[in-house]
Amino acid sequence: EHWELNQHFDYRILLKLKEDLEKIKAKKGTALNCGKGVLEELKPLATLEDEGLTLKEIVERVEKDLLEFADDETVAINVASTEPTPEFDPEYHATLEGFERAIEEDRRDKVTASMLYAYVSLKNGIPFANFTPSVSSSIPALKELAERVGVPHAGNDGKTGETLVKTTLAPMFAYRNLKVLGWMGYNILGDLDGKVLAHEQNKRSKIVSKDKVVGKILGYYPYTITEINYFPSLQDNKTAFDFIHFQGFLGTKMKFYFIWDAIDAIVAAPLVLDIARFLLLAKKKGQKGVVKELAFFFKSPMDTDEYNTHRQFEILKKWFEALVSS
Ligand SMILES: NC(=O)c1ccc[n+]([C@@H]2O[C@H](COP(=O)([O-])OP(=O)(O)OC[C@H]3O[C@@H](n4cnc5c(N)ncnc54)[C@H](O)[C@@H]3O)[C@@H](O)[C@H]2O)c1
Repeated sequence: EHWELNQHFDYRILLKLKEDLEKIKAKKGTALNCGKGVLEELKPLATLEDEGLTLKEIVERVEKDLLEFADDETVAINVASTEPTPEFDPEYHATLEGFERAIEEDRRDKVTASMLYAYVSLKNGIPFANFTPSVSSSIPALKELAERVGVPHAGNDGKTGETLVKTTLAPMFAYRNLKVLGWMGYNILGDLDGKVLAHEQNKRSKIVSKDKVVGKILGYYPYTITEINYFPSLQDNKTAFDFIHFQGFLGTKMKFYFIWDAIDAIVAAPLVLDIARFLLLAKKKGQKGVVKELAFFFKSPMDTDEYNTHRQFEILKKWFEALVSS
């Protein structure tokens, strides 16, 4: 159905995969604290919580389903819809003991679906990546779990489109000492992701993730506008219009514009594959905890302040070369 709507690659490729794809049966998951965007746009939604399960039982079901197909080569990647950002609660999010207590005490107000998927994966030694702006494995409790179990993880939010261009271009202004006065990025997209992000709380997580990168690279925060809006007829196309106002020699003001027009799934899928390969290699080489060298792939990389794509790529290469020769 998705192919019929978008027709963004050769249908023969899909036919070759038909048999394998048909073997994949999605299992019921959880949508705890996924916000209005998910609850309203994915209707009718069948979740484990609707079956009246406790939090502990939900975790056990997700774990059972995951372990049914997982093997030594499995990597889990969260590509579910973006969740609203929950308020950090030190009692339940700061330590593994606190997080597991939230599960025992059935504190479903304290966890989100992406945290639970990360918890189950990491607990079972399955490397995990968060391709979304949702909180997921970035809370201290789950970082502690990854360290304890000895499993690598990475995130957050795949850097596939406008932000990739922004974080590649922003360093140029810094290198040439051109002062960025303002940066506007206006994104429109169709499909379900666009519908979910049309809901204010879900959208906020994404905007925060996209907005901060320019300031992080420049070392100062110019005036920014970052907007995302749903545009149904675009389907899986995502178009970004960026306007950059900057100042050069003798204080002269100049302008730069770009338009990024890409197909969301086509720019995201190869990154998901690369992240999975790198995490599997990291696991095989005994790495554990946050793999910050994978920052190159993410808009909001964990445990690093390096947002410059050029430097991130050098860091990734160095890490990879050292790992394969170790
Ligand atoms: N270029 C990109 O596509 C790109 C780039 C960066 C980040 N992301 C993020 O990746 C995610 C997926 O993007 P997409 O375009 O494929 O979105 P999509 O809306 O097409 O797909 C999301 C899928 O997640 C499922 N889902 C929602 N909540 C779930 C839950 N709690 N448990 C299990 N499944 C759930 C939905 O049913 C849907 O099938 C989004 O969060 C998006 O913001 C995508």
